[in-house]
Amino acid sequence: MIPTRRLLLAQGACGLLGCAAVACGARAPKPADDSGAVGAGRDSAPASSDPCAPPPLGANSVLLSFAEYPALAAVGGSVAVTLDGASFRVARAAEDCAVAASATCTHEGCALNYDAGRFVCPCHGALFDLDGSVLGGPTPIPLPTRPAVVEADGVRVGPPREGR
Ligand code: FES
Repeated sequence: MIPTRRLLLAQGACGLLGCAAVACGARAPKPADDSGAVGAGRDSAPASSDPCAPPPLGANSVLLSFAEYPALAAVGGSVAVTLDGASFRVARAAEDCAVAASATCTHEGCALNYDAGRFVCPCHGALFDLDGSVLGGPTPIPLPTRPAVVEADGVRVGPPREGR
C-alpha cells in the first residue's frame, strides 16, 4: 500500500497518543462485552483503495455512536464489535479516518488489537495495515475489511464490498 497523507498522520497521531480502538455500529448496535455485536452480513477481502476514503456505504450500514462507543470519539481509539456474526475491530485512525477489519488473526485465530495505525496480533506478532494487508508476521493472508467513515455522531461501518 502506498502511504497516504492521512495514513501518515494517523500513524503519527497514534504514536503520540498511544492509540485506542473504536467501533461503529448501525441500527442500534448491541455491545456484548468489550466487544459489541451489531448488524449482519458477509466479511469482505481487504480493500485495494485508500481505507480512509471508502466508497459510499450503502443502505445497510451500521452507525456506532460515540455515545455508545466513546472510544471511537478519540483518534487512536478502537472497539471490537460483531457484524453479521463475525468479530471486527473498528478503529479511529485519524480525525477524519475510521477503519474496520476482522478482529480474528488469519494465522491461528487470535483476537487482534489496534495500535499505532496497525492491527496487531498478540499471539505470534502478525501485523496488518489499515487496509487489512499483511505488514509482517507468520501469515500471508490479509484481513477482511469493511468500509467505515467518521460522521458527526459516530462511526458508520458499511457492508462488505461486492466481490470481496
Ligand atoms: S494467531 Fe496471530 S500471529 Fe499467530
